Amino acid sequence: MPTITEILDTMDYGPALESDAIARDWLSRGPFGHFIGGNYTPPGQMFETRDPASDAVLAEVTQGRAQDVDAAVSAARAAFPEWSGLPGHARARHLYAIARQIQKRERLFAVLECLDNGKPIREARDIDVPLAVRHFYHHAGWAELVAEEFAGQRPHGVCGQIIPWNFPLLMLAWKIAPALAAGNTVVLKPAEYTPLTALLFAEICIEAGLPAGVVNIVTGDGTTGAVLVAHEGVDKIAFTGSTNVGREIRRATAGTDKALTLELGGKSPFIVFADADLDAAVEGVVDAIWFNQGEVCCAGSRILVAEAAAGQFEAKLRARMDGLRVGAPLDKSTDIGAIVHPRQLARIHDLLAQGQAAGGVLYQGEAPDGCFCAPALMVEVSPANPCVREEIFGPVAVMMTFRTPDEAVDLANNTRYGLAASIWSENLTQAMDIAARVKAGVVWINATNLFDANAPFGGMRESGFGREGARAGMAAYLRPVRTDTKPVAPTPLAPLPQSASIGGLDRTHKLYIGGAQKRADTGQSYSVLAGDTLQGHAPLGSRKDIRNAVEAAHKASAWTAMSGHQRAQILYFLGENLAARADSLCAFAPRSEIDASVARAFYYAAWADKFDGSVHDTQSAHVTLAMKEAFGVMGLVCGEEAPLLGFLSLVLPAIAMGNRVVATPPQSAPLAALELAQVLAVSDIPAGVVNIVSGPVADLAQTLAGHEDVAALWCAQPELAEMVERESAGNLKPVWQVSDPLGQGRAFLNAATQIKTIWVPYGA
Ligand code: NAI
Repeated sequence: MPTITEILDTMDYGPALESDAIARDWLSRGPFGHFIGGNYTPPGQMFETRDPASDAVLAEVTQGRAQDVDAAVSAARAAFPEWSGLPGHARARHLYAIARQIQKRERLFAVLECLDNGKPIREARDIDVPLAVRHFYHHAGWAELVAEEFAGQRPHGVCGQIIPWNFPLLMLAWKIAPALAAGNTVVLKPAEYTPLTALLFAEICIEAGLPAGVVNIVTGDGTTGAVLVAHEGVDKIAFTGSTNVGREIRRATAGTDKALTLELGGKSPFIVFADADLDAAVEGVVDAIWFNQGEVCCAGSRILVAEAAAGQFEAKLRARMDGLRVGAPLDKSTDIGAIVHPRQLARIHDLLAQGQAAGGVLYQGEAPDGCFCAPALMVEVSPANPCVREEIFGPVAVMMTFRTPDEAVDLANNTRYGLAASIWSENLTQAMDIAARVKAGVVWINATNLFDANAPFGGMRESGFGREGARAGMAAYLRPVRTDTKPVAPTPLAPLPQSASIGGLDRTHKLYIGGAQKRADTGQSYSVLAGDTLQGHAPLGSRKDIRNAVEAAHKASAWTAMSGHQRAQILYFLGENLAARADSLCAFAPRSEIDASVARAFYYAAWADKFDGSVHDTQSAHVTLAMKEAFGVMGLVCGEEAPLLGFLSLVLPAIAMGNRVVATPPQSAPLAALELAQVLAVSDIPAGVVNIVSGPVADLAQTLAGHEDVAALWCAQPELAEMVERESAGNLKPVWQVSDPLGQGRAFLNAATQIKTIWVPYGA
């Protein structure tokens, strides 16, 4: 007779299919038009959306044309004044009603999502839908509080929102809930593979009594998305999807004054130290890369494991992997469902083949025929292997080993992305140290893929910019009530002088790079005139000087590691020295500006240790930290107004927050900033923290905007806005157009920092 263990070992799961009748019934309403101005439009030119598990057609949906986008934007525009004018409480009631209505139909949403996307019903039911509901409840709260908590801010207006196919309803909730809470109206385009839950959501809007035009949904492919991005009536674009499309959108919106947030791809590290609870970490991998078929932007797709534990970990992982069930999404015991579309499956296969051709050894289980992909683990990979570098968006992990924590950090950061990281260690000191050093917008300690409406989510580097969720996510749907300042255009560069001496004195200033005064690489300088009077000569900096300055700024990383208190002391000292040197600066800037600059140095010294992050209250047992981190190296294109104060108004907040900067002073009046080099040098500001390159501002700004090692750019010259935004698409650095270049305050500090969300276990 077999033993109980033998029986348990040989037992298989019986089918446990969730009925799809509820969704089939709803689908019989098709074919579907768009949802514009509170009504479904008649179906137009149709495309099919299919169930990837069976390849059966689920519904016919309308391909959005330019006139549909136009109608949707007009409807959103018409609805905006009334919606944004409602008291927050009234908007809160609508958002609350939406949450309630989704909750009442959560089974329909879960089954429909499962059919359209191919994800397992367990995940749709337990993760996607409850999190979407949570998002609307949470943002009902923000609608209630927005006037009080975001005084001086206003909604953008009409938001164009474009979402991907991996979490269709959840991404809709992430986009629509904060937009509406802040008082915006929206036009949302779901992904062409998965438009159905968005169309069902439109019904919820009707049921919840949302005023017509507040939410509009236009279905279609990337061409529809591109029309929405380009539409003149749209004030903000929020996009989640691939990095390449994000880059296109960055270029398309350059210079349009449309606000932009991009949540893009990732290749996130999953770091396992030798002291980790290896069984827990193995379960972590299941949730990191085999959750949602690996079609997750923040999937932990690069497993980095300490060499000492690698053998044991791999054995445990492969055993666990063998037990995963791939198959019918509606089966409640399925772990891995269908890949969203045969095209995506082909892409996964192609990358796996490339990875193997580059020497990777692949372990992969079995999957049924059709659009399914068995979980996969690739080992023996080099950092250059395509499977290590590219976002695969499938259930494929690569595994590499490391020997020291430093090596783990180097490997983790050896990617152009920076979305998420997962760190496994029983030593919290070590885990927190690594959390501070990985370049990622979200870090999970002894956990992975945790999400909450009150935890900011978003990337660094080529994973995009902007945050969704929590206070930071709300801020992205608001902008300051404008106090438009008139831009001052630079005067053209004056011709080179015959003689560089004024009254017998050589008044040729130098660039300030790496703490030293440097001649421009061109060896040339240009005349600086005050009216008709020659004030002096400024170096004609070039591309090469900018590159040198960026390199110097990179080396000054100790500044970023310094405490806010230490930076404050140095900024006070700078203020003091500015006051002491007022007489020599007076030759280049009026006394009033020097006084204001001293006050500004004190102001940002005050902030240096007070612009705190926060601890967010999330649903799980975690302290969820929102740390405000410096970008690293920033480019600052200063305005033409107020030569000294204009320069310091940008430099001071950026360095107070721990950034190192390469700044271009006003082209027409650079001498005050160049003269400042003398003050910087005696104020204990380490070499390379502030670098000053004068010259043709448009050329210098272009080099800064395109530079891969500049992490963020501020531009106070409106006529350069389009160019710098276009150029910034290379490494997708955030660009802040400074609308009040002589101002001061939190807006500057916010723009000088990015949030890193760290989930630390607490109270579990
Ligand atoms: P995609 O980035 O093309 O699609 C995402 C959304 O953008 C869809 O709604 C699509 O219609 C829209 N879109 C496409 N081109 C557009 C354009 N020029 N302007 C405006 N909207 C546009 O992603 P795709 O092609 O579906 O997937 C390709 C790869 O992208 C995947 O294999 C994966 O690596 C990555 N991806 C990453 C996502 C993420 O969340 N990080 C989500 C989806 C895909």
